[in-house]
Amino acid sequence: MTALLQLDNIVKTFRKQGKAFHAVDGVSLAIESGQTFGLVGESGSGKSTLARCALRLIPPTSGTSQLDGQDLGALSRSQLRRARAGTGMVFQNPVAALNPRMRVQALVAEPLITHTRLRGPALQARVGELLDRVGLAAEHAQRLPHQLSGGQCQRVGIARALATNPKLIVLDEPTSALDVSVQAQILNLLRELREQHELSYLLISHDLEVVRYMSDYVGVMRQGQLVEEGPTADVFAKPRHDYTRELLDASPGSRHNHQLVASAEPVTIQL
Ligand SMILES: Nc1ncnc2c1ncn2[C@@H]1O[C@H](COP(=O)(O)OP(=O)(O)OP(=O)(O)O)[C@@H](O)[C@H]1O
Ligand SMILES: [Mg+2]
Repeated sequence: MTALLQLDNIVKTFRKQGKAFHAVDGVSLAIESGQTFGLVGESGSGKSTLARCALRLIPPTSGTSQLDGQDLGALSRSQLRRARAGTGMVFQNPVAALNPRMRVQALVAEPLITHTRLRGPALQARVGELLDRVGLAAEHAQRLPHQLSGGQCQRVGIARALATNPKLIVLDEPTSALDVSVQAQILNLLRELREQHELSYLLISHDLEVVRYMSDYVGVMRQGQLVEEGPTADVFAKPRHDYTRELLDASPGSRHNHQLVASAEPVTIQL
């Protein structure tokens, strides 16, 4: 079976104070269709850089990224744009990720205008459908980002990511800027959407409890390298690498999100 996303030996080198350093240092991983791969690791370990290389938002220094069997590095600019329509990205700071001068309607329409031929009433209808899907009401369509809560802004971000019916969504710290109670709502929304649309996620989070709640597979990054990888239950029960053990020990497991892990049923989303 072809993996939905297959990364082989990705290296990304930046220059820091004149010296080259590997922000990502030979990472390989595969995400199968319908799976969620959780990526954890300390700040600066290269998680976001790896995600950007995976979608080729930046070119890796070496290594390949294949989406649905297609080597993204071998595509022309227009082919790459088309391939990227099969992916979505949700960012950490939902307010900053949205153009402050654009209304929700226009923000959600933007990817549809770029990637589809929907225009006029059909476009409006699709925007309405997407807002509904992420739990926003029609009245939100005319608001500007600053007229929404952080959680509502992240719902707009998720609607934008969903617009082109992607198979894979990269979630880069999707809840870390949100209040604790709102975090649970957004995580549950993401879980519901995953079921409804058979989505795969590459989920980046420094919060181990978030990763445990959401992921089938976990990868642990340290200084640009994937030091441990495996099914979530295994990695949490029997971490092999010292660094993973350190992370687990440092994670206050009894914290708020623990209640998420304990509850088998998704918490009802309150709007
Ligand atoms: N465009 C860039 N130019 C130079 N260095 C960069 C660039 N982007 C990232 N870096 C460096 O690469 C390293 C990895 O950064 P990256 O943002 O991928 O880490 P991260 O694991 O996502 O961290 P965080 O958890 O804080 O988001 C860091 O040392 C960062 O300073
Ligand atoms: Mg990051």
